[in-house]
Amino acid sequence: MSTSLFDINNKAILISGASRGIGRAIALYLAENGAQVYAAGSRPESIEWMRSHELHAQGRLHPVVMDVRADDSAATLIEEIRSKHNRLDCLINNAGVATNTPATGIKADDMENMININFKGAFRACQAYYRAQRKEGGNVINMASILGLIGTPLAAVYCGTKGAVIQMTRALAIEWAGSGFRVNAIAPGFVDTDMTDMIKKRQSVLEKMLETIPMRRMANPEDLCGATHYLASDASAYVTGQVIVVDGGATAM
Ligand SMILES: NC(=O)c1ccc[n+]([C@@H]2O[C@H](COP(=O)([O-])OP(=O)(O)OC[C@H]3O[C@@H](n4cnc5c(N)ncnc54)[C@H](OP(=O)(O)O)[C@@H]3O)[C@@H](O)[C@H]2O)c1
Repeated sequence: MSTSLFDINNKAILISGASRGIGRAIALYLAENGAQVYAAGSRPESIEWMRSHELHAQGRLHPVVMDVRADDSAATLIEEIRSKHNRLDCLINNAGVATNTPATGIKADDMENMININFKGAFRACQAYYRAQRKEGGNVINMASILGLIGTPLAAVYCGTKGAVIQMTRALAIEWAGSGFRVNAIAPGFVDTDMTDMIKKRQSVLEKMLETIPMRRMANPEDLCGATHYLASDASAYVTGQVIVVDGGATAM
């Protein structure tokens, strides 16, 4: 297989939730490998670190603000990127939030916030991307979770939002394939980021969680870069509507 299939040089890519964790690792990886990466955080403060990064100085890492709860945030950014590059090659919907709460204790506001960010935010961005790139086609990667495939206690709404992201991915892949769009998802297992602080802080919970992973370790954010690279590149040109699981074997048990 020619390595050029994996070439992402100068591809224009927008990724949400790139200020920290998985999104940050992916944004840096893609920019290091030659992509033009528009890396979004929800607030100006959370992306400030990018301005002093060498990839920013080299013109490949572009910090942008996108709060995915705002109706038109993705549409505005996509137009700005297209006005510079004439296209947006890939949209990565990675922004997400979680809570660790018993089902009966989840507050209405927290439920709405999780659904709004994890599901509606990704869907609105997909809509805006399709409208903008209707003629050229496009490539969407949605960051789902293995908790969209299997259940776990204390995460009923989170599991619901990630299951919805996976089903949305499949439905859009079918609906938009004829317009030259690919839509895929990545389902990480447990990843060492701020989101899993609650688990890491409690030794007994951490040990119990590690027992569910054949590889006996959490993922590093960088463990998600390979699957993202594959989906963002032409190596996956005939792949759509799929979920790539990156979980150290957890869902194989
Ligand atoms: N960590 C895991 O174990 C795990 C496992 C499976 C799937 N995932 C999924 O992977 C994705 C990234 O997770 P992570 O672990 O890297 O999380 P994280 O470290 O907590 O980072 C969350 C990211 O989402 C952004 N965000 C939060 N609210 C937002 C909003 N309203 N609008 C736009 N961006 C917003 C944050 O931006 P600010 O910094 O500006 O707040 C931050 O960049 C999420 O979709 C998550 O559900 C994570």
